[in-house]
Amino acid sequence: MSVMLAVVLWRSGLLLSFLTACVCLERDCVLGVVGRPVSLPCSLSPPPTPANVTIEWRRDEDVVLRSEWTQDGGQVDGWSVNGASIAAEAVLTGNMSLQLDTVQPSEDTEYYGLFMVSGENHTSLCSVCLRAAASFSLPLLQREEAEQGDETAFLCHSSGGFPEPSVYWLINNTEEPTGGSVSTLAASLPDSHLYNVTSHLKVNISKDANVSCVIENPTMNQTLTSTSYGVKAETVIGRASQAMWIFSTALCVVVGVMVIVGVAYQINLDRVSKRKKKEYHQYMSRRPKRRPSREEETQTMKPQSRETDV
Ligand SMILES: *[C@@H]1O[C@H](CO)[C@@H](O)[C@H](O)[C@H]1NC(C)=O
Ligand SMILES: *[C@@H]1O[C@H](CO)[C@@H](O)[C@H](O)[C@H]1NC(C)=O
Ligand SMILES: *[C@@H]1O[C@H](CO)[C@@H](O)[C@H](O)[C@H]1NC(C)=O
Ligand SMILES: *[C@@H]1O[C@H](CO)[C@@H](O)[C@H](O)[C@H]1NC(C)=O
Ligand SMILES: *[C@@H]1O[C@H](CO)[C@@H](O)[C@H](O)[C@H]1NC(C)=O
Ligand SMILES: *[C@@H]1O[C@H](CO)[C@@H](O)[C@H](O)[C@H]1NC(C)=O
Ligand SMILES: *[C@@H]1O[C@H](CO)[C@@H](O)[C@H](O)[C@H]1NC(C)=O
Ligand SMILES: *[C@@H]1O[C@H](CO)[C@@H](O)[C@H](O)[C@H]1NC(C)=O
Repeated sequence: MSVMLAVVLWRSGLLLSFLTACVCLERDCVLGVVGRPVSLPCSLSPPPTPANVTIEWRRDEDVVLRSEWTQDGGQVDGWSVNGASIAAEAVLTGNMSLQLDTVQPSEDTEYYGLFMVSGENHTSLCSVCLRAAASFSLPLLQREEAEQGDETAFLCHSSGGFPEPSVYWLINNTEEPTGGSVSTLAASLPDSHLYNVTSHLKVNISKDANVSCVIENPTMNQTLTSTSYGVKAETVIGRASQAMWIFSTALCVVVGVMVIVGVAYQINLDRVSKRKKKEYHQYMSRRPKRRPSREEETQTMKPQSRETDV
């Protein structure tokens, strides 16, 4: 971070130069993860001249740390808020970096400044800006095919991030859904002030379309994408129904063959027995009926034995 060595009067030009310094530094803000410690860097080279000095770290107008040092670099007095601290040998080494215990979930950029206090005079030594952020979890994406019609519902959920992200949907990796309905809700968790975000998409699309949910957290330089692959989902279902189809077809074929064989067998039986009866009647009508009992027996026996051969 830049070290401002120029002595500026607190009541006149200080605020202006403070603001301009931070506008220039906006891009180089320190990124603090919400709930974790962070160090706001400030190095003075050379270290402040060995003298009785009082330094103050301020967040905007509020003093967060005040410390008095003697000529030999010993700390004589000091206090801080929310566990803010600087190294014990800060004045000797020139490393005046401010340690913060936990980063607060602040939506706005926070500006911190280090000042040397001498009576009414404040000398600005460092300015640092801090951005609070936290990573979102990889979004969970659920796809629900409609029971009727073409409308498909999607649900996208991600948790534990900061600040509030922007959420959008992509179809086939490029176009945003047109004519669909999107509703997105970001809920701030009561304890951590982190966000859970849930987005619903209802859209009429073909089943083979890929649908992606994108969560963007520019502060974290984070873009998370989850995709529901339409084609893949369909082939899984397709394979299952294909297996069922093959099974039922095979079953039908087997049953059909059995029926045909049974019918053919029956037809053949009928034909053979008819022929035998006819032959028998012809035979009986041609022959004189002298010894009918034995002939009849043998004739009726024969077709039966033949039938079982078929
Ligand atoms: C520093 O402070 C001590 C006591 O607070 C005082 O005795 C000493 O003269 C001061 N030194 C300077 C250079 O102001
Ligand atoms: C300054 O001190 C802090 C710890 O107090 C340390 O994390 C940081 O690396 C130091 N910076 C330099 C430039 O030595
Ligand atoms: C404050 O700064 C002014 C101008 O730089 C100087 O004349 C004055 O002596 C300083 N006051 C103290 C208490 O250091
Ligand atoms: C936030 O999301 C997480 C993970 O899905 C869940 O366990 C938690 O209950 C959610 N909290 C709220 C307040 O919705
Ligand atoms: C969907 O995603 C799969 C896997 O990345 C890809 O092979 C396919 O071409 C995509 N389909 C479309 C329509 O973009
Ligand atoms: C989808 O199409 C159905 C009719 O097929 C219509 O009732 C419904 O409103 C459409 N939904 C969207 C989100 O366009
Ligand atoms: C997405 O790709 C699939 C497969 O190529 C296609 O059937 C579908 O119409 C596409 N959807 C859109 C909205 O472009
Ligand atoms: C942001 O992420 C992209 C890709 O992950 C990387 O190329 C880029 O350097 C990152 N930018 C910052 C400022 O971290």
